[in-house]
Amino acid sequence: MKLLVCGGAGFMGSHFIKYILATYPDYEVVNFDKLTYAGNLENLREVENNPRYTFVRGDICDKAAVEDVIRENNIEAIVNYAAETHVDRSIMDPDAFLRTDILGTFNLLEATKNFNLTKMVQISTDEVYGSIEAGSFTEESPFSPNSPYSAAKAGGDHLCRAYFVTYKTPVVVTHSCNFYGTNQYPEKLIPFFITNLIEGKKVPLYGDGKNVREWIHTSDHCKAVDVLLHKAAPGEVYNIGSGQELENIELTNMILSEMGFGGDMIEPVRDRPGHDRRYSIDWSKLKKDFGWHPEKDFKAGLRETIKWYKNNPNWWQPLKSGEHREYFKKQYTEKA
Ligand code: NAD
Ligand code: DAU
Repeated sequence: MKLLVCGGAGFMGSHFIKYILATYPDYEVVNFDKLTYAGNLENLREVENNPRYTFVRGDICDKAAVEDVIRENNIEAIVNYAAETHVDRSIMDPDAFLRTDILGTFNLLEATKNFNLTKMVQISTDEVYGSIEAGSFTEESPFSPNSPYSAAKAGGDHLCRAYFVTYKTPVVVTHSCNFYGTNQYPEKLIPFFITNLIEGKKVPLYGDGKNVREWIHTSDHCKAVDVLLHKAAPGEVYNIGSGQELENIELTNMILSEMGFGGDMIEPVRDRPGHDRRYSIDWSKLKKDFGWHPEKDFKAGLRETIKWYKNNPNWWQPLKSGEHREYFKKQYTEKA
């Protein structure tokens, strides 16, 4: 198969490209990525000389560039990871979110339709469902997004549904819980807190720290997307979850204790505006239809992730310094 992975230089997209090249010896992958602040070709060093891997710098909002990459590489299917992804940035500056997460998705749907591709997998988020106090969201739950990020993702997902209903475009949408693992940009909770602690800095915990998130390891997510790319019927929607729910304070304490620190390293700060209290998704459909289930033990995965950040300061230090330092200063002080 000739696969186009959009956003493949980011956190999960790069894991997926490495997974596909290792799992399918006859597949070819084209990575189409704009290289925003979150795109990092260091994530793909180990495959950059693989003859079955090609990188093309481009923007999914640029319709002609999308068409060119598909035509020139005889692409058969798309997996779309390209998005603006950080909720805090969407609160400070939503513009790029609306463009990439809605208009970019629209361009990929148009291309899937017009080039008669076999499948487009749209990687989306549990955040489109909003916040839930008890129980879990199913694929039938209504959308109720609460941040510019989740509203933009929901816009893209609605277009996917409309393209299937109207044109029978073979698109499959995922709603995933929070990813964790190596190579995650250090603005998100887990890598931000780990790298702060390595630097001897405190960790800023928003509000009362009792917001709940559900966590899935990169390896389990790659396997789920593999199954959906190959087996899911066009027009279907699947939740991808783990059942590993934690209050932020519980997760923070796990990181602190694993790294040999105490609660004095927590800095309680002002809450995120519109902060969703709890995400929880029911992924029984994915299990029932394909037998997929998460395998990674959370404590083991977290320990490996901490070890990776400790061993790879050359990867993350440049991302928290230089031109990027201003963002981290703002993220911290705005909340303080
Ligand atoms: P990321 O922020 O690490 O990487 C995003 C990538 O997309 C970057 O390489 C960036 O350069 C690229 N990109 C951004 N705008 C682009 C554009 N206009 N054209 C081409 N490339 C562009 O992302 P991530 O955290 O790995 O998330 C990947 C996908 O999974 C996103 O769609 C996100 O909404 C979804 N998701 C993420 C999580 C999570 O916990 N991180 C959970 C559920 C769903
Ligand atoms: O649920 C899936 C979503 O998970 C994805 O769609 C998003 O792309 C991804 O960024 C993530 O969103 P969250 O807002 O849940 O992730 P983040 O790591 O930003 O925050 C996790 C929780 O930790 C959240 O409740 C806010 C809190 N937090 C975050 C940061 C960065 C803090 O308390 N302090 C912080 O400094």
